[in-house]
Amino acid sequence: MSEDTKKEEKKINFISWEEAKQKSKVFLSNFTLKEKTYLMYGTSIKPSNRCVGQIDPIKSGFFSPVKFQGIKLDDGPTGPRFQKGLTNSWPTCINLSSTFNRNLIFEVGKVQGSDFYHKGVNVALTPCINLLRVPVGGRIFEAWGENPFLTGEMASELIRGIQSKGVIACAKHFIANEQEKYRNSSNSVLDERTLMEIYVEPFYKAIKKGDVGCIMCSYNAVNGVYMYRNKLMKEVLKDKLGFNGFIVSDWWAVYSDSPDSINNGLDMNMPGNISKIPYLGDIGFKPSYWSTLQDKVDKNLIKEEKLNECAERIISTLYKFGQMENFPKTENFEVNYITEETKQLNRKAATESIVLLKNDDIILPINLKKIETMNKKYKIGILGIDAFKGDFYGQEGNIILTVLRGIKLDGHIVNGIGSSQTDMNYVVVPIDAIKTKTEKCKNIELAPYAKLDKEGNEDIENSKNIVKDCDIVLIFVQSISGEDMGKNLADRKDLDVMHNGNKLIEEISEISKNIIVIINSPGPVNLEWKDKVKSIIFGGLAGPESGNAIADIIFGDANPSGHLPFVWGKREQYPADVKELPNEFGMLKDGEQEFKDEVKYEEGLFIGQYWFDKKNEIPYYYFGHGLSYTKFEFGNLECNFDKKEKKLEVKFTIKNIGEYDGCVVALVYLGFPLKDENYPERMLKGFDKYFLKINESKECCIIIEEHDLSYYDVQSKEFILPKSGNYKVFVGQSANINDLNLQKEVNID
Ligand code: GLC
Repeated sequence: MSEDTKKEEKKINFISWEEAKQKSKVFLSNFTLKEKTYLMYGTSIKPSNRCVGQIDPIKSGFFSPVKFQGIKLDDGPTGPRFQKGLTNSWPTCINLSSTFNRNLIFEVGKVQGSDFYHKGVNVALTPCINLLRVPVGGRIFEAWGENPFLTGEMASELIRGIQSKGVIACAKHFIANEQEKYRNSSNSVLDERTLMEIYVEPFYKAIKKGDVGCIMCSYNAVNGVYMYRNKLMKEVLKDKLGFNGFIVSDWWAVYSDSPDSINNGLDMNMPGNISKIPYLGDIGFKPSYWSTLQDKVDKNLIKEEKLNECAERIISTLYKFGQMENFPKTENFEVNYITEETKQLNRKAATESIVLLKNDDIILPINLKKIETMNKKYKIGILGIDAFKGDFYGQEGNIILTVLRGIKLDGHIVNGIGSSQTDMNYVVVPIDAIKTKTEKCKNIELAPYAKLDKEGNEDIENSKNIVKDCDIVLIFVQSISGEDMGKNLADRKDLDVMHNGNKLIEEISEISKNIIVIINSPGPVNLEWKDKVKSIIFGGLAGPESGNAIADIIFGDANPSGHLPFVWGKREQYPADVKELPNEFGMLKDGEQEFKDEVKYEEGLFIGQYWFDKKNEIPYYYFGHGLSYTKFEFGNLECNFDKKEKKLEVKFTIKNIGEYDGCVVALVYLGFPLKDENYPERMLKGFDKYFLKINESKECCIIIEEHDLSYYDVQSKEFILPKSGNYKVFVGQSANINDLNLQKEVNID
């Protein structure tokens, strides 16, 4: 946990879970069972209340006082949703992850928490902590990449930031929900060790380090049982990991009225599918399955104490985060909390998330000062629709970025599709940021151009004419994906950039040798043209400050320090993919769809880079790859294993030997002393980010805790330390063994 987090935590005097549970028992002592069930299922989405789900206020009689103020839940990972631009929107989490900066994520979480708080939202439905298992996965932009350790560490910082403001964060979607195709009717099949070491791991950290108050179950099934009624919720989250909060369903993920849902750990059903008229019973277009909980108790299908436990978990979580005493009782939707400070933090996060993949001949940064001393014009070509504002942007200044794949996308993309979208108050697009940077430079001449034909392809001929005499050409390309909005369009069909961007790059490379390609996409794209350009920047989906962030990097106002949170390869190099299946609706069996897809996690522990390592696949770019304008030298590795504390101390030095101040990320990989050869040869178990001035050296120390030194033992069903042998310790700047230039063995006997 970052030092800032620890300092801030001290200032917050949240009560203990024990105390919260006591208070909730007292609070609920004068609730009838029926009233307690009202806490457990919501009323339908009411956009007028500008939140995505809610529990209505509860009164015991029509003229009685309100005895419970209700609960509001709202998306999402880029800030409060449905706010008509009156809130901060943020870079997507694939970008936040690329910063590898825990402190920064904690800071972003605090502002997000503050915005949700002032909007009267009790539960912020973020972070999404599923993993980038398949590169075309629709929601990979919404999560933190392929690595369970990185995801858990970064998401925990966001959770703590949000919760430090008295808002409950909700880690989602439990579990094995790594593709969008048939998310309501697919069965994920995976073994226990893979489940625990890879896919549960982010939830482990969300609970143990983030102290997360809410977890959302996913739509899909795992090993044959749909998650809304799967015993993994109770046995793993509550019993094994000691999760104190409450589990909420994904929206409409409670497919049947099976008592297994509550008996196996689900506490709240959203959105509830009814429009409840309080005290007159449940009247609605489709009574929630849970409006009949009382008679399930009468038929002894659910024990009353089980319902009590659900209600107590919900109320104790509100007590835990201070919401029972002083939470805003009314929505404050009309207030806009965007300030100069939040915009600066937004820009800092976006800029730190930009990854410089390639920079041959040190073509970047473009040095405006030097250009100003020249006695000739310096012409910059700017091509690609992704550099410009799009018609799909909203009107009246509030940009409602509600794009769906397949409709004409004709401008800069800064978020993906689905529930994580927010209505953006503004978006700075690249061309505007570039104009702002260069407007005072008399030697700079800009040649911007982009136009789509009726098929949505870039106008290559005119592009070539525009830039044929340019000194340098910036080509912006894009791709997008998102949540399955019922059209199964969400997972990408392929990894090609859109609008025929590949051809644009190929053709321009025939007339210019000085090309910089900027990619705005949810994750990997095909880079078949990679050797024909001098520089490549991965901009991800960087939110409203995206254009400024990209321009800061290109013109050297920021030294790039983003690193890839995924290995970047060709689609066929990855261990798994989304099957192309016909879009058809399956038969319903008491509300549940028959499985239409079986997603077999046959790669086991070998997700992402671990698979590439095992198969000796050479990617375009390794996990953790990211260039800087300066150079760093690592040295003096020392490792001490503390047997009593069960911790591994990894010490090393870093020196900035280049010509720019800058940030460097150090990754710590461990090779485990296990006889079992079917284990990744090295796994990420530590990282940190350091700022170093030119010539500055730093003594660094990264502590690997017991859990991260452990492996999951299927016999004992516990995480345990290896009995004896040597850990192999690797330290460096990416997963490429050539970058892990500090190596040492540490004996733990
Ligand atoms: C969606 C998403 C989930 C979101 C919820 C409410 O289907 O899967 O992430 O929080 O519904 O919008």
